[in-house]
Amino acid sequence: MSMRPETIKLAPSILAADVSRLAEEVSAAVAAGADRIHVDVMDGHFVPNLTFGPVIVRKLRPVCPVPLEVHLMIEEPDRYLEAFAEAGADSLIVHQEGGIHLNRTVQAIHALGKKAGVAINPATPVSTVEEILPEIELLLVMTVNPGFGGQKFLAGTLPKLRRARRMIDQVRPNCELEVDGGIEPETIRQVVEAGASVIVAGSSVYGAPGGAAEGMTRLRGALAS
Ligand code: DX5
Ligand code: ZN
Repeated sequence: MSMRPETIKLAPSILAADVSRLAEEVSAAVAAGADRIHVDVMDGHFVPNLTFGPVIVRKLRPVCPVPLEVHLMIEEPDRYLEAFAEAGADSLIVHQEGGIHLNRTVQAIHALGKKAGVAINPATPVSTVEEILPEIELLLVMTVNPGFGGQKFLAGTLPKLRRARRMIDQVRPNCELEVDGGIEPETIRQVVEAGASVIVAGSSVYGAPGGAAEGMTRLRGALAS
């Protein structure tokens, strides 16, 4: 097998956490080796759901010793970049489909001193991010349609993930390749074999019967076996 499990980063998504105990839930994931915490922001327009705003990032920042990455599933993300940056986000991930002037958005993220990520929905070709790839630190290939946790992994995204890996290796080898949606012990190997280097996981981490530590151990175990 070509994958090296120790190089794969895990980013638990707090969308699936018990938000009444958010600080504890984050601490549990960090204690279990979470490399970063993934915060899903939804606006009720770009996706049909509503979730967290900058106030949550601001409250989490002092109790979270690992980077906070903010996944902006919102229309016209430029309007909120500064608010999330000031709240303490370490990286800001915007959708290719969320605005018109993606290059300007990425420049704005960098001007705020933050890492820039770009996400693409399952139906969006990876070719649409070819020109922005040299400018970004992370490419997120959605493996479900964004909007909800606990959805089934879309295996049809795997060929695109392989194309994304080839493109990154050619033009931007240090860009991270992240996947998000439906990642569990049964699917994590496939995405890592296809080239993913950062794994977002919500339900399979926070929904594990024994909690976040057990969920993360199961994911890492699936890679090592
Ligand atoms: C989906 C979100 C995901 C979500 C993943 O719209 O972007 O980050 O939390 O949840 P699971 O891992 O349950 O599919
Ligand atoms: Zn997400």
